[in-house]
Amino acid sequence: MKNQLILLGLLIGTSSAQGLKDLAAPRNLDVGAAINMFQLMDNPDYTDILEKDFNVVVAENAMKMDASQPQRGEFNFALGDLLSSYAQKNNMKLRGHTLLWHEQVPKWMTDGNFGKDELEEVMKNHIQTVASHYKGRVYAWDVVNEAISDSGGMRDTLWRRTLGDDFIARAFRYAREADPNAKLFYNDYNSETMNRKSNDIFEMVKKLKADGVPIDGVGMQMHLTLVAPPSITEIQQNMKRLEGLGLEVHITEFDVRTTGFMGTVAERNAATAKLYKDVVNVCLQAKNCTTFIVWGVTDGQSWLKAGSPLMWDAFFKPNPAYFAVQEALQGK
Ligand code: G3I
Repeated sequence: MKNQLILLGLLIGTSSAQGLKDLAAPRNLDVGAAINMFQLMDNPDYTDILEKDFNVVVAENAMKMDASQPQRGEFNFALGDLLSSYAQKNNMKLRGHTLLWHEQVPKWMTDGNFGKDELEEVMKNHIQTVASHYKGRVYAWDVVNEAISDSGGMRDTLWRRTLGDDFIARAFRYAREADPNAKLFYNDYNSETMNRKSNDIFEMVKKLKADGVPIDGVGMQMHLTLVAPPSITEIQQNMKRLEGLGLEVHITEFDVRTTGFMGTVAERNAATAKLYKDVVNVCLQAKNCTTFIVWGVTDGQSWLKAGSPLMWDAFFKPNPAYFAVQEALQGK
């Protein structure tokens, strides 16, 4: 019966027997998705897709600081633990997002008026409590998220203003102390091509490595825009220079903002599919690019709230992007 269903699926062209993760495994690539916890808890259409196509999950929001330490010193791991059990049950890897960010921080933090020593303690305690809690379960953490400014240099955040530029190095050291086996990543957006921001990131991680700070990789979020697509050659160059530092690359939050595209929906979806395929291909070709994660599963749940940024439409039907990724993984 199952075989007949698969055959039927193949005939009507909606699915194939092998999920993306199965096609990706022989190419040494992990394929993941950011998880909406409400969907995970009660939508079988959603979990069917996850279990067929992905071997990595990351919480879209549930493991950020506002969720995990809503009151000072009071940690809440309920949703993260649920995702962790789900991942374990389904043989998936759990990626951690994120230990330190300037957004989605709890009110007690932003209103705290903490001095340097106290904020250092807050940072250390948060990183170490969360990383220790998920020790052995999270295989890779976004330790620091989005700390470089879009216009160059360090971003002006509460962490940096109070703690100084070297808070980043200390954040990585605290994370490594708490979980020596998790891979530790710096993660940012608009930094996939060769540009001012990616140059700053490159210089920063180069210095971290030179100083012996425990960093294993760089996350390229890749929230791309269809009307201003990135140069694939530059993505390749950027991955290559990070490889030169011995750093891994994870594509951590891939999606395509499709608004503003002039053309039919079919043309828009075809152009989006091509972008997905080009990026998966560039990752497959780069020795150090090991993970491709999409920032959500269906268009209906995307933070972008318009167009078709993801691999499934709002009705859980695969978009052309899904088949394009399939082809890339099959080397077609
Ligand atoms: O939890 C509240 C809920 O109680 C309330 O009813 C609801 C009303 O709008 O808001 C809920 O919080 C929202 C939360 O998502 C959960 O849905 C926040 O307002 C909203 O700001 C938050 O947006 C998230 C955003 O990060 C926050 O900056 C997006 O879902 C999430 O996709 C996005 O993810 C980020 C990555 O972490 C880092 N890189 C960029 C990426 C996209 O912005």
